Amino acid sequence: MSFAKYLLPALAASQVAFAASCGDTTIENQSDADGIASCSKLNGDITIAKSYSGSLSLAGVKTISGSIICNGGENVTDITAASLTSVGDAFNLEGLTRLTQLAFAELTSVGSIKWNALPKLQSLNFDKGVTEAGDVIIQNTGLTSLDGISLKTVNQFEIENNRDLQKININNLQNATDLINFSGNFDALEIELPNLGTGTNMTFRNISSISVPSLEKLTGQLGFWGTEFTTFSAPNLTSTGDLVFNDNSKLSNISMPVLTKVDGGFTIARNDKLQTIDLPKLEKVTGAIDFSGKFNTVDLDGLTDVEGGFNLQSTDGTFNCTHFQSIRKTVIKGTYHCDANTTNPTTSNGKSGTSSGSSSTSSATSSGAAVANGASMAVTGVAAFFYAVAQLL
Ligand SMILES: *[C@@H]1O[C@H](CO)[C@@H](O)[C@H](O)[C@H]1NC(C)=O
Ligand SMILES: *[C@@H]1O[C@H](CO)[C@@H](O)[C@H](O)[C@H]1NC(C)=O
Ligand SMILES: *[C@@H]1O[C@H](CO)[C@@H](O)[C@H](O)[C@H]1NC(C)=O
Ligand SMILES: *[C@@H]1O[C@H](CO)[C@@H](O)[C@H](O)[C@H]1NC(C)=O
Ligand SMILES: *[C@@H]1O[C@H](CO)[C@@H](O)[C@H](O)[C@H]1NC(C)=O
Ligand SMILES: *[C@@H]1O[C@H](CO)[C@@H](O)[C@H](O)[C@H]1NC(C)=O
Ligand SMILES: *[C@@H]1O[C@H](CO)[C@@H](O)[C@H](O)[C@H]1NC(C)=O
Ligand SMILES: *[C@@H]1O[C@H](CO)[C@@H](O)[C@H](O)[C@H]1NC(C)=O
Ligand SMILES: *[C@@H]1O[C@H](CO)[C@@H](O)[C@H](O)[C@H]1NC(C)=O
Ligand SMILES: *[C@@H]1O[C@H](CO)[C@@H](O)[C@H](O)[C@H]1NC(C)=O
Repeated sequence: MSFAKYLLPALAASQVAFAASCGDTTIENQSDADGIASCSKLNGDITIAKSYSGSLSLAGVKTISGSIICNGGENVTDITAASLTSVGDAFNLEGLTRLTQLAFAELTSVGSIKWNALPKLQSLNFDKGVTEAGDVIIQNTGLTSLDGISLKTVNQFEIENNRDLQKININNLQNATDLINFSGNFDALEIELPNLGTGTNMTFRNISSISVPSLEKLTGQLGFWGTEFTTFSAPNLTSTGDLVFNDNSKLSNISMPVLTKVDGGFTIARNDKLQTIDLPKLEKVTGAIDFSGKFNTVDLDGLTDVEGGFNLQSTDGTFNCTHFQSIRKTVIKGTYHCDANTTNPTTSNGKSGTSSGSSSTSSATSSGAAVANGASMAVTGVAAFFYAVAQLL
């Protein structure tokens, strides 16, 4: 009698174990999740049905070769995977509008993270921290920090429209191999990337501070739009692709003391507080230089080669073009325009160079976006400038 009493549950458990395929699994309720608890290695994907309601615990599973996916699970409130260490492919969550908690204490490695529309998710219970991931794209969440994401390297890294995200410090990050884009998060977002040494493209909108003390080289674009910081400092940065400072209303100091090469175009526009542009080591710009604004000092004394055009326009009358006039023939390969005392400074494509300027102010930002979208400054800057000159003739 007592034997049967013990046998039955054991049999039941083993039936569950046999029933578990440990392959692709769709989870509609907690029983489905319990059914794979014996799968320490799950060879496939876990799909959480959008009808899932309440808490979900993925106990027992240590590795998933494929993905964790939930699309539209509006009634999922929290997901716990206490022993899960790695997800081979994607971790995709979209539209889990009631999700408040992700507790993945052991998770360290994920193929990629793509989260969108998780407005109630404020923090991550990733105790060990994810140190390895490919692309990380986090949009429209309620996250207030990215604690728990402690990447060493990352491919694409897009952090967009997370309105409560106030501070990001990714201390481990040393190398970013694809686009980094931070945009539309909390207005005063502070970003610290203390150990980031190399990257490709980095674009920032609507942030209040950025710290990149170790950054040495970017192969793609570095761009800032609509930020709130007063100083941008990149003490170790020697070269970048296109370089853009556009619409940064408080920016008064750009400090890049060892910048020697801009492999692309260099645009400074609509930064009304910027008075001094001092880039003493800058030697070569392979695209166009296009600076417009209210500055009174431009020190580019190391400049030996500008392969594109040169457009410098300022409202400030204390500044003059004598120096640039003198290097025009030897240094500047493209068209030359310098105007030191103009009421309406414009960029080379005719957009206003100051936020108070009169010509089509609304499109000045989109000219920056056009650069971000891949148009080469070297080409568009020069072509647009020729066009502008043709209009004058
Ligand atoms: C859980 O969902 C499965 C289908 O995935 C269904 O067969 C089972 O009856 C459900 N169990 C409960 C307890 O609702
Ligand atoms: C979420 O729960 C509500 C209320 O029970 C239900 O009407 C809705 O269909 C559920 N959503 C999904 C995607 O199943
Ligand atoms: C950054 O990562 C890329 C691709 O993995 C690699 O080729 C490059 O050497 C790394 N750079 C540094 C400085 O670690
Ligand atoms: C800046 O570069 C110098 C020389 O390469 C190096 O010694 C220093 O550690 C770097 N600083 C940071 C903060 O990475
Ligand atoms: C973000 O910056 C852009 C400029 O790129 C600006 O047009 C927009 O109003 C800013 N958004 C917020 C919420 O500050
Ligand atoms: C600009 O910022 C750099 C770095 O923070 C600082 O060393 C320098 O003194 C500042 N320049 C001015 C004019 O404030
Ligand atoms: C700047 O232009 C204004 C009007 O064109 C002129 O009155 C003024 O003297 C000029 N200032 C300098 C420093 O050239
Ligand atoms: C331009 O500035 C230089 C010094 O920066 C000065 O020597 C020169 O006289 C100025 N030229 C004009 C036309 O104001
Ligand atoms: C960065 O993200 C913003 C908002 O999603 C987008 O408008 C912008 O085009 C992105 N930048 C790049 C270079 O992809
Ligand atoms: C990265 O930067 C390069 C050069 O600055 C540019 O041509 C390219 O379009 C950028 N890519 C993205 C995704 O912004």
